[in-house]
Amino acid sequence: MYSEKVMDHFNNPRNMGEIENPSGVGTVGNAKCGDIMRIYLDVDEAGIIRDVKFKTFGCGAAVATSSMATELVKGKTVEEALQVTNKAVMEALDGLPPVKVHCSLLAEEAIHAALWDYANRQGIVIEGLKEPVADITA
Ligand code: FES
Repeated sequence: MYSEKVMDHFNNPRNMGEIENPSGVGTVGNAKCGDIMRIYLDVDEAGIIRDVKFKTFGCGAAVATSSMATELVKGKTVEEALQVTNKAVMEALDGLPPVKVHCSLLAEEAIHAALWDYANRQGIVIEGLKEPVADITA
């Protein structure tokens, strides 16, 4: 049912944890399954994501997609990170079962929410970035 890559990222999640004094934080949730995902970004002066961490209170696919999403945005510019869609995350994981597609969407939304927070703190606009739904934990 799950690809080897999904199982690998579930069993050995990359970039799990928190960043102290992050450049941006985003928390999103899915009302149906109740899962929550939080992404922390550390962005340097040039707008490059030098570190990224996640915390996920959710299913195995949510853990695997968070892990892969952080791997995909690390080292990228904030504009490039915006292009990391849930489709890209799923492809990188060699697919997800249809009932688990929403888990990858949560990863995309969490990254966007963290980028939004970063842009707000910096007083900048990231072209194409939409305001996330309100922080459900606020
Ligand atoms: Fe909801 Fe996976 S079941 S995030």
